[in-house]
Amino acid sequence: ATTLGAAAAQSGRYFGTAVAGGKLGDSQYTTILNREFNSITAENEMKWDHTEPSRNNFTFGSADRIANHARSQGKQLRGHTLVWHSQLPDWVKAIRDANTLRSVMNNHINTVAGRYRGQIHSWDVVNEAFADGGSGQLRPSVFRDVLGNGFIEEAFRTARTADPGAKLCYNDYSIEDWNSAKTQGVYNLVRDFKSRGVPIDCVGLQAHFGSGGAPGTFQTTIANMAALGVDVQITELDIAQAGSTQYANAVKACLNVQRCTGITTWGIRDSDSWRGSENPLLFDRSGNKKPAYESVLAAL
Ligand code: XIL
Repeated sequence: ATTLGAAAAQSGRYFGTAVAGGKLGDSQYTTILNREFNSITAENEMKWDHTEPSRNNFTFGSADRIANHARSQGKQLRGHTLVWHSQLPDWVKAIRDANTLRSVMNNHINTVAGRYRGQIHSWDVVNEAFADGGSGQLRPSVFRDVLGNGFIEEAFRTARTADPGAKLCYNDYSIEDWNSAKTQGVYNLVRDFKSRGVPIDCVGLQAHFGSGGAPGTFQTTIANMAALGVDVQITELDIAQAGSTQYANAVKACLNVQRCTGITTWGIRDSDSWRGSENPLLFDRSGNKKPAYESVLAAL
């Protein structure tokens, strides 16, 4: 195969990228996107601040643009993200009443997931709910503080009804190292959900790595999560300085686990990256393939 998407498809996987809707008019950007990737995640456009900037006022213009591009190009679409403490409007953060917040959260999920019902391969239903550091507990947020830890279960149950055909993922960062309390917290959440029949289908490992790349336990983490009976996806891969070996190792860790079903890089060119100064992606600022591109293609 000569493209990332086609190479990943050889083993039934996808290879995707985050897309910024405002760049779809950049022909260099769109040429690479259409050629190389067979899955798209909206980098920002499906987040709460974009889709419901004020209560029950839903705005889907920029999200629709990305969804339409995915449909017209025959790409899978990942939904990112329904419930997240960040890029969350102040009007949501200010809610103190549990009944109000529960109805606001469920209305948001129903409306956003409902709009794209049937079009989304996987939804990041809840993003980044766990705290950093050694607690293994949820981080403070309006959702946790007002609704309690059960907000995650409620969000997944609502999302299942809103789009029964989408895989429902829990997505987070710094859960790639098996020997971390945060990873264990997510593992225990997924195990609990599976044991009680709470609808969850996948775990997203963001995989924002430093220049050393993935931790040595990365494949173990993927395999252990998958053994709970969920798919695992690498959802936001980028690696400082984009070392060829580091990229190939991250890809191989996924390919070595049957239920690791797809990989997404968090942007196309280094100039598109939220970590742009670290040059963490597979294409340079001129749209040329970097050495890490070749190592990824060879590993797929
Ligand atoms: C980032 C985007 O890339 C930036 O454009 C935006 O300013 C902030 O969010 N974890 C996530 C992504 O789940 O949504 C974040 O995306 C990167 C970290």
